[in-house]
Formats: sequence, structure tokens, C-alpha cells
Amino acid sequence: MCDDELIPPQADMTEREWLRAGSDAAAGAPPMPTTGRVPQWVNRRTLLGGAMAGAALAVLPSQAQSPASAATRPGTPGAFPFPEHPNGKGEFAVLVTGDAGTGDEAQYAVAAAARDVCRAEGIGLAVGLGDNIYENGPESADDSEFQDKFERPNNGIDVPWLMVLGNHDCSGLIPGSGGDPSRGDREVAYAKTSKRWYMPNRYYSVPLPAADPLVEFFAIDTIPWSSYVAQLDPYYHWDGPYMREQRSWLDRALKASRARWKVVIGHHPYLNNGKHGSAGSYDGFEIGNYTSGVHLKDMYEKVVCGRADLILSGHDHTLQILEPTARTGGTRQVVCGASAKTEDGKAHFGHPAAWQNFSDNGFMVLKVSGARLTIDAYTVDVATRTATLRHRTRQTTPVAAARAHA
Ligand SMILES: [Fe+2]
Repeated sequence: MCDDELIPPQADMTEREWLRAGSDAAAGAPPMPTTGRVPQWVNRRTLLGGAMAGAALAVLPSQAQSPASAATRPGTPGAFPFPEHPNGKGEFAVLVTGDAGTGDEAQYAVAAAARDVCRAEGIGLAVGLGDNIYENGPESADDSEFQDKFERPNNGIDVPWLMVLGNHDCSGLIPGSGGDPSRGDREVAYAKTSKRWYMPNRYYSVPLPAADPLVEFFAIDTIPWSSYVAQLDPYYHWDGPYMREQRSWLDRALKASRARWKVVIGHHPYLNNGKHGSAGSYDGFEIGNYTSGVHLKDMYEKVVCGRADLILSGHDHTLQILEPTARTGGTRQVVCGASAKTEDGKAHFGHPAAWQNFSDNGFMVLKVSGARLTIDAYTVDVATRTATLRHRTRQTTPVAAARAHA
């Protein structure tokens, strides 16, 4: 069970307002107005972690980066190469994980089970869907947490890992708040020294194969559109330059892509039957510019739906293969955030699903050929470190082709 999720008492508070609200509640002051959710206050361990994070931030200069307009290959000596040819089965096979960065036994068990499947399936690439380093992201670009929560557990899965930022990777005073996106720059910097971790920028694309792509991945940063708290740095405002540039880049990149299959990867889901809910009403919030994810919903609907075949997301610690619908324009939402944590065992919403699981750890394998796109969902028994294939979904017509013939 995941018992460390912190939900703010109301939408779009600053971190300091949230902390003050917690202090007032603890002191017996009248509660602040809420949207009906039961607030979960920050505990002592959280505050301690936040204070240390704040101290580290005080000496870290703000790094505003120019966005990537195309994939750039890492310059890291010895970096694992991207696959340029399909495997022996005629497919590009990709391991999909999410919310993995705890460093706990469950992460190591899922990775160990996945390692065996990766060998059998001829995996050439892996994806990490955010919350890569719990609870507050790394403290520097060479934090030992990169070893304990990524390199060691994934040793033997020796392929490039397309990494995206999660709310825990970009938190300020409160773990998971998403209130300090600049901390994500440390994960971009780490990519320059890792053979596995691929994150040339905070958002980027990777076509496979590079010369004549069959599939293209579009990695996005969903955090400033869906943080639990209001962004204080104008650069990262929901309508500030960073998010405007990212949205414009994604629009252009999807339009320009020559790949048969297009896959958007980002931490927060568009649709979700798990407890966090869907973009536009995350965690029961339907007001404000941040906590509800209303602007991420708008971006998914106007830029991604009907153009990408898949949205791969984490955030909810569940495994869900939802069905494409008219609402999604034929795009399929997949949630794969159970690679270290699990959820409460039940569906909270009723979006049509091909298969879903709310109680087990697990991962998925995406297999792409010219003829079809296949998603295999595995659950993992942590005690024995073994994976079981639970479900397989196949689709044969890319969204773009279906729309062209409609
Ligand atoms: Fe998350």
C-alpha cells in the first residue's frame, strides 16, 4: 500500500500556505475551506526532508533550459545505444515502468522480475514514467540516490531508459508537491554521466530507428500543469514561457513525425480509474490552475488525442490499459505506475478498460512492429521476484491511419 500520498486541503495553495494550514490544524485552529477531501498533513519526517531540500536549493542557481526540438543522442562515454534494428521477433520491444524510485525491496523485486522478461523478449529500450527518485528528487546531479534507486536495481537491463519527470522529482518543501520544477534539472544533468538514464532535456522525442522511424516517443514534463501547489517561479507558471514552449514543441513534433506509431510518455495521466482520478479533476479538485490538472487536460485533448496512439503515464500506482474511445480520438491511455508501490485495490472511476489491476506491483512490455502494437501487462510477486503475464492487448491500425480513412 502507498500510505505517503499528501493531498493539499485546497487547490492552488503555495507550499507555505499548505504548511501553515497543517500547523494551524495541529494547533486546533479551525480548518481552512476544502473541496471535501480529507487533508493529510505533513509529518515530521516530511518537514525535515523539506527543510534539507530547501537548504540545498538556496545554493543551487536557477537553470532555465531551452527546450529540445528533436532528440539528441547522449554524449556519455559507453552509453547504451538505441536499437537501430528490430529484435529477432521483428519488433522493437520496450520495458515500461513507473513510479519506481523508492529504493525499497519492491522496486528491486520488480526490476529483477522484469530483467528475466527483458532477456526473453529482446528488449532494446526502457521507459521510466516519473517519480524516479522519491521523496523529493535528487539533491544534486551526483546524489547517491541515483545509484540506490535507479542504477543498482536496474543493473542488467542494459538499454537506454527514457526518463520523464514526476511530481516527486520536482518537489520543494513538501515531498510530491511538484512545487519546484527546477529540481528536475538535476535529473537532466545526471543523464550526462549515466549509461542508462536518458533525459537530454526536460522534454524531448526519440524516433526508432532514427533514420526511418517506425515508432516515435514524445517525453513530456506534466508537472507545472498538475502540481499540487501553485508555481511561484513565473518561468514555470501554467501559462508561462516554459509550458507554452513545451506545448508548442509537442504540437509541432507530433505533426512533423514520420513514425507509423506515436507514443506520448508523461507522468500524469489524461484518464485514470485509480484514486488520483483524471486530468481536470485530479484528487477531486475541479478548480484552480494547478492542482486539478485542468490545463494538462486541455493540452492532452487539443494536442495529443487523435494524434498519438498511446499515452503512457504513471502517478497512480496501478496497472491500467484503458480502451480508446471517441472522447480520446482513438488514443489509448495506459497507466503503469506500480513498479515499486501499490494502490488500494479498487477502481474509483469507470473509464472503459481492456484490463486493469489496482493491487499488485508490476510493469508492462510494449512491442512495436509495422503490423501491430502489442502491450503485455505483468504483475510481480515481490516475495519470489517473479513476473506473471496477466494480459495482452493488440492494435493493428495507427490512430493517424484510422482518421485518414474515416
Ligand atoms: Fe506521482
